[in-house]
Amino acid sequence: MEGGIRVFELYSGIGGMHFALKKVGISFEVIASVDINPAAQHVYKSNFPSTTYWEKNIEGLKAPDLDKLNIDLLVMSPPCQPFTRIGLQKDILDPRTRSFLHLLKIFEQMTNPPDYILLENVKGFETSKTHEIMCKTLKALQYSWQEFLLSPKQLGIPNSRLRYFFLAKRRPKCWDQTWHSQDKIIECPSSMDKECGENASNIVPLPSTTATIGQYLEESEVISELRLPPNVAKRYLPVMDLVTKDSNGSMCFTKSYGKYVEGTGSILNMAGDNEELDLRYFSPREIANLMGFPKEFHFPDNVTNNQKNKLLGNSLNVEVVSYLLSILLT
Ligand SMILES: C[S@@+](CC[C@H](N)C(=O)[O-])C[C@H]1O[C@@H](n2cnc3c(N)ncnc32)[C@H](O)[C@@H]1O
Repeated sequence: MEGGIRVFELYSGIGGMHFALKKVGISFEVIASVDINPAAQHVYKSNFPSTTYWEKNIEGLKAPDLDKLNIDLLVMSPPCQPFTRIGLQKDILDPRTRSFLHLLKIFEQMTNPPDYILLENVKGFETSKTHEIMCKTLKALQYSWQEFLLSPKQLGIPNSRLRYFFLAKRRPKCWDQTWHSQDKIIECPSSMDKECGENASNIVPLPSTTATIGQYLEESEVISELRLPPNVAKRYLPVMDLVTKDSNGSMCFTKSYGKYVEGTGSILNMAGDNEELDLRYFSPREIANLMGFPKEFHFPDNVTNNQKNKLLGNSLNVEVVSYLLSILLT
């Protein structure tokens, strides 16, 4: 593809997909990026000032708009709330699913659909009615796909964030038949994934060791701003997920991290494994590190920590997506 792969980025948030593409090391151009949320737009534009940005509702997109773009690869993370296992799972009845269903309709009207698609969502999407409609639509349009359920932990990153991924190619593009299986979700992509043993498919080798939390911490953080207030620390201690710099795991950081303690992400005990407790939150920069965002990623000055945590909580693990993009494209 001359000039690189032409990528259309939908539901772009803070640009996790764009950073993942950069990490793959292929030649590409994000021809347009779309998101409706002003806070996400602000961060995205600050990181990718030269990318064409559409501040639009995806429900307003039309097939000719997309045909004109000549898209090779479509990347997207549609809203996941309609499918989360702890949510109401309203699926197609949730208004937040409307834009994705609209997109599938547009696909049917396009004369020039993309060769490749990568979609990210939560575990739970794969059993939804929306998933069924997506597969039916894309099958009729000559797509074949491979699904994955992966967590960064499997790539040696000390953070859990189990997510569903849908990778599709349009004929005549095809899959490596030595491991492709349209009917089976791959949860263990490599025989080096020790917990999976015999069930692993051997796609691309994964690292065999896990890094420690300490490798993702920032020495320059102002610790006093991150310390848990003593009353919060005392009250919520029994429900906290405590980790130290030597731990090789941490909980998924959600959009409510810093606002609520229980179930929103791990707390760092700076005292280490001895009896004492010296508790603090992870900073947004440290969470971004654990999510694979590169050093050049930044938040503009006027974004609050709560906003940063919210945007990161909605985002994705850049390393995992980059690993999957390389499987899809190379
Ligand atoms: C799961 S987040 C995407 C995260 C993104 N991949 C990232 O790295 O930050 C979903 C995004 O879709 C956007 N969104 C939801 N509905 C939309 C719609 N109808 N039109 C445009 N953007 C929408 C939200 O504002 C949110 O930023």
